[in-house]
Amino acid sequence: MDCIKVHDKTFVPFIDNAQISKAIDKVAEQINHDYANCDSAPILVCVLNGSVVFTGELMQRLNFPCELTCLRIKSYEGTQSTGVTKQVLGLNRDITGKQIIVIEDIVDTGHTIEFLHNTLLSLGASDVKICTLLLKPEVYDRDIKLDYVAMEIPNRFILGFGLDYDELGRNSKDIYVLQD
Ligand code: IMP
Ligand code: MG
Repeated sequence: MDCIKVHDKTFVPFIDNAQISKAIDKVAEQINHDYANCDSAPILVCVLNGSVVFTGELMQRLNFPCELTCLRIKSYEGTQSTGVTKQVLGLNRDITGKQIIVIEDIVDTGHTIEFLHNTLLSLGASDVKICTLLLKPEVYDRDIKLDYVAMEIPNRFILGFGLDYDELGRNSKDIYVLQD
């Protein structure tokens, strides 16, 4: 793998597709084990846009009945001192009493996943589990349990496999890291 230039920055190879695939195999096995005797089909919730690639790969490995839905999170600066406010867009189905598996590309501080976890529960989900491709454990500072984590990485900026730098780089099949 060679370096790639995206916008103004150079990224170097970090995790190749074969390693990503193995990590997804492992996490899919854990999920298949946990949901093997599930009596109602859980809903996979893909968090757009970053999780599209991971969701597609993961769901092909799941061997129990499950549904799929997507949502987007809109962040905007609040007018009060609360800082960045978030809102869920596009969840156009009733999730009352449903078991949810949120599929994220990456958990950084955990702000996004905490917001989603609490919002989905307040919308009536009976259970919300979190599955993420990547976690930056050095910066995660929330109390939400991360049920399924495929890979842990240091606190560096990455792109590829769905993750972007200013909307570019999502289509790379390998993951790259910003050159120091
Ligand atoms: P958190 O709310 O701080 O956990 O941030 C999570 C979101 O930040 C992810 O869903 C990504 O959209 C974005 N993000 C965090 N780290 C990276 C990275 O290294 N590359 C690209 N996007 C990232
Ligand atoms: Mg994301």
